[in-house]
Formats: sequence, structure tokens, C-alpha cells
Amino acid sequence: MARVFVTRRLPGSALERLGAAHELEVWPGRLAPSPAQLLQHAHGAEGLLSTVDDRVDDTLLQSLPQLRVVANYAVGYDNIDLAAAARHGIVVSHTPDVLTDATADLTWALLLAAARQIVPAAAHAVEDWLTWEPCGFLGASVTGATLAIIGPGRIGRAVAARAEGFAMRVLLVGRERGDLEAALSEADFVSLHCPLTPATHHLINATTLALMRPSAILLNTARGAIIDQVALLAALEGGQLAGAALDVTDPEPLPPEHPLLHTPGVLITPHIGSATRAARTRMADIAVDNLLAALAGQPLLHPVPLPS
Ligand code: GLV
Repeated sequence: MARVFVTRRLPGSALERLGAAHELEVWPGRLAPSPAQLLQHAHGAEGLLSTVDDRVDDTLLQSLPQLRVVANYAVGYDNIDLAAAARHGIVVSHTPDVLTDATADLTWALLLAAARQIVPAAAHAVEDWLTWEPCGFLGASVTGATLAIIGPGRIGRAVAARAEGFAMRVLLVGRERGDLEAALSEADFVSLHCPLTPATHHLINATTLALMRPSAILLNTARGAIIDQVALLAALEGGQLAGAALDVTDPEPLPPEHPLLHTPGVLITPHIGSATRAARTRMADIAVDNLLAALAGQPLLHPVPLPS
């Protein structure tokens, strides 16, 4: 039996399977463990199940000499120092595919809500609905509009597939700078689906925001730090951009007084892209399957490629 530390309670019964095979500690808190708590509770662990809220950095990894595997409860893994994991001989897994549809659906929920001002309109219906207004809550057309998808991976392509039903023109943008610039200048909606890496950090900044149409809406269900939020605020305030719908921010959560939370035209959700019962349950199954495999000395089922 190996010792395994899990940094959050998870839906479904996957942790029961893990607990039947290994000595398990599950962090009981609603909030993630602090770095000091993580270090203390993961002490002696051979397996670690982490979430996007846990920073798995060199300091942590070098303090856990017994650690053999980190199973990240997410498709993204920018919270993990992969070079340090490789140096310490630790393998890393993630949870691809099972959250693709959930995240693409949430992207569409944000797109439609932002285009049609669903959140302010719903608040108005409760608080202030006096009459039918010919000029009230006029939104942007979705059907027939142009959608730029930055990052044509699994989730980006799933978002694109849904756009067919809205007869949209879809611009899929990979790593070519010229393609990005052209797409930003033509799109009514720009949706981010690239991983957070040094190359995509603040990809959306004052320069790239200036290329966007003043009527455009920016969507982010990837990672907050892909957007320079100071530049985004300035663009929204300066009328360079009509709105933004963000499921991810930098940091998470935003402090309650953060201006993005209080800017008209901005819709923010608390990182719920994968939050369907089915997706979050399957993610737990996958994380546990990978831990069980690695602790049994077998190859990971969903390995994250490590730098050599
Ligand atoms: C969530 O953000 C994930 O990467 O799965």
C-alpha cells in the first residue's frame, strides 16, 4: 500500500476505489490547501492528486522524495512544473477528452449570454421590469456572425462544431501570428482555447486587443493569464471592445473589489468549464486510474509529456 494525498473531495466513487487499494488522505476543506498545508499533508506520499488550484512546483516536489506520480484533475497542467517533475523522476497525468463537450457547451453558454445580455436582463426582470421596451437589451446577432477560435485543439474544434448550427463563419487560429491578427480584426466573437504557456501568456494584450472590432466580444474558457487583464479593462472602458465573458481569470478568484467584476459588459463565471456531473465524475475516474497504474509500476494511461 502506498500513501496518496488528494487535495479535494471529488464527485463519484473513484476515491473509494483508490482508498480500497492505498492509504488515502483527502483534504476535507472547501478551500484548497495552502502551499504549507500541501507540503505538510503530502509528506511521505507516493501519489498526489492535484487540482488547478494547487501549485506543484520545484519547492514542493523536492520536499517529497517518495513521490512517484502526480495525477492532475484537469486537462490543463500549467499548475505543474513539468521540468522539475522530470528531474525528480515523477510522472504526471491529466484528464483529456472527458471534459471537451462540457467546456465547449459552457463556452457557448457564455457566448449566447454575453451576446444577448442574459445576466443583466434576468436581473432586470426581477428588479425593474415595467414594460416591453423596443430599445431595451439590444444584443449582438449570433447566427451568421464570425467566430475566431484561438487554439484549434480538442475543445476549440468542439466549439467550432457547435457553430455550424448557427451558420457562423469560423476562423480556426493556430500558432501563426498573421492568422491571429487577421482573425482578430474580422471576428464578432473571439474565443480562447489554447493552453497557457510562455508563448500564450498575455497573448491578448493592448496590441492584439487594438485589432479587435469595437462590437466584438471576447470569450475565455482556457486560462486567465492568456489575457492581460489591465489591457482588457482599458479596452472595455475605451470602447475598443463590446464585452467579455470569462470563465477563467488571473488570479482565481478575483478579489471582490476587482474592477472586472464590476465593469458593464463583463460576465464572469468561477472556472466551471468542466462542471457537469458526468465530466467531473469521469475526471475523477481517470485521475484514479492513472494513480493506480503508476503505483502498480505500470505506464500512465493519460500521460503528460515531460521535457527530456
Ligand atoms: C480545467 O481548467 C482543466 O484544465 O481541466
